[in-house]
Amino acid sequence: MHDQIDHILLTEDQISSKVKELAAQLSWDYEGKNPLFVGVLKGVVFFFSDIVRYFEHPCQLDFLRISSYEGTESSGQVKMVQGLSQDVTGRHIVILEDVFDTGKSLDFTYNYLKSLGAASVEICTFLDKPERRNPEVTLQPKYVGYVIPNEFVVGYGLDYNEYFRNLPYIGVLKPEIYEN
Ligand code: IMP
Ligand code: MG
Repeated sequence: MHDQIDHILLTEDQISSKVKELAAQLSWDYEGKNPLFVGVLKGVVFFFSDIVRYFEHPCQLDFLRISSYEGTESSGQVKMVQGLSQDVTGRHIVILEDVFDTGKSLDFTYNYLKSLGAASVEICTFLDKPERRNPEVTLQPKYVGYVIPNEFVVGYGLDYNEYFRNLPYIGVLKPEIYEN
């Protein structure tokens, strides 16, 4: 599998030091707030489990699943496939996400959670690709791990056709993989 990777963008060490930094910030900001961490499946699973393990206070976890209808990128519609398993009225929610790309999925998720009556909703994304942002999306992630260039990356939960999620680092695929 590794021979399909062109180069490594973020090593395991870079990933784990950033996760600890983000978890420390969250621990500082959310002490006494009983936050609900919401993960958007499935790319986030590695980041999610790493972050919550280093969060130092009581918290709860939940997941939701959305799907995007890829027409053209700008018309991509997002739909909720699996909602939360609990009432979020008055809760402080932190959405955890693998990568903030066009921002369409998180914009939808943010509005959905707000409409359910959450007291606050913030976004913590491991990767941010600001160059890809859809101009209609004004939402800003409060917590960002790494800002990366406009390249398609895999590993640490991120997939290409559902593969490569299990790589322990984040890498860029060789161009010929996409051409097959
Ligand atoms: P957005 O709605 O365009 O921000 O899309 C975010 C979702 O697209 C992420 O949760 C990923 O599932 C997927 N995605 C965006 N960029 C990449 C990438 O470089 N590699 C793998 N998946 C990506
Ligand atoms: Mg994906």
